[in-house]
Amino acid sequence: MKAIILSGGKGTRLRPLTYTGAKQLVPVANKPILWYGIEAIAATGITDIGIIISPETGAEVKAKTGDGDHFGANITYILQESPAGLAHAVKIARPFLGDSPFVMYLGDNLIQNELGEFLNHFKTEQMDSLILLRPVANPSAFGVAQVDDQGRVVQLVEKPKVPASNLALVGIYFFANTIHASIDRIQPSARGELEITDAIQDLINQQKHVEARQIEGWWLDTGKKDDLLEANQIILDTCLKTEISGELDAKSQTFGRVQIGTGSKLINCTVRGPVVIGNDCHLENCFIGPYSSIADQVTLVDVDLEHSVILKGAQVIGIHQRIVDSVIGQRAHLKTAPQRPKALRFMIGDDSQIELA
Ligand code: DAU
Repeated sequence: MKAIILSGGKGTRLRPLTYTGAKQLVPVANKPILWYGIEAIAATGITDIGIIISPETGAEVKAKTGDGDHFGANITYILQESPAGLAHAVKIARPFLGDSPFVMYLGDNLIQNELGEFLNHFKTEQMDSLILLRPVANPSAFGVAQVDDQGRVVQLVEKPKVPASNLALVGIYFFANTIHASIDRIQPSARGELEITDAIQDLINQQKHVEARQIEGWWLDTGKKDDLLEANQIILDTCLKTEISGELDAKSQTFGRVQIGTGSKLINCTVRGPVVIGNDCHLENCFIGPYSSIADQVTLVDVDLEHSVILKGAQVIGIHQRIVDSVIGQRAHLKTAPQRPKALRFMIGDDSQIELA
């Protein structure tokens, strides 16, 4: 059994963060989203993992993730020249996959369930494909499955305008080598992509053994800002352990589960967990409220923050209003200006969003 993780694509919905980096490397609780997928796969005992990368962000994914040693796996990087679809990614991974059955994991997805139980079911029943489904409020944003009374998948449609059900395809799939013939049979969709939903539909049309399982736990597709904040909240809620390696002065205090990395200094700060603060940060006169993740080398002075993600090297200084539900990108500076006239001065990147109170 092998696995591929799709970490190419365009990442348009997480702009501007994804102008300068891969969306799969955006951190959730200070760990790249992609790494959760690698860990979930490695936990099933699968060690041969192929990661699909794009020409734009592949080098960064590779440099950060490495050869797999860190995860107890062997990682092979597979370059996809253009984001021509999920089934196209499988097609170019064929030399890596050979005739092995495999798990396909979308690199921006996170699920609560462990994969082992699904994998065993897939293997024992000798399926051609096992897909995972979850009811959602906005099915038109996903691949949607229609399932009959016996739980068999009847039809799959990618992002339908009029969805046949509220059951979305979760971005984790199990395939036997029969999927390759189906991929060879399908044509690009109206949006020009080779869709994996069409390939699975082809398996169904060929009377192959395709089953669906509904997942009960949470599922996060971190494609947009609010999804990212939700993922951050859930991971901090469920996984964070207290560990304080940084220094707190006598006027600083923490409540609840708080992690503070080495080299970080807190002066006159209150931190109410769950909160993770990375390495080499400087925090002074701050209140850091629940569900905040602060990456390495961040400076926060006179800041009141809650339910937010601050990326590496950002500086927020002297903002005398509470910052909530925010994502602040790498090396971004947000500070009060010393000059007069008293005014707002901006240098805002493309596609940024700013809401002033
Ligand atoms: O998240 C679940 C949904 O994922 C499913 O319900 C849909 O059926 C499925 O098509 C997919 O939809 P998305 O619109 O979320 O796919 P996205 O374009 O965001 O790509 C998912 C991941 O795969 C992302 O990490 C980028 C990567 N990718 C995507 C394409 C199109 C590649 O590596 N290569 C590609 O060609």
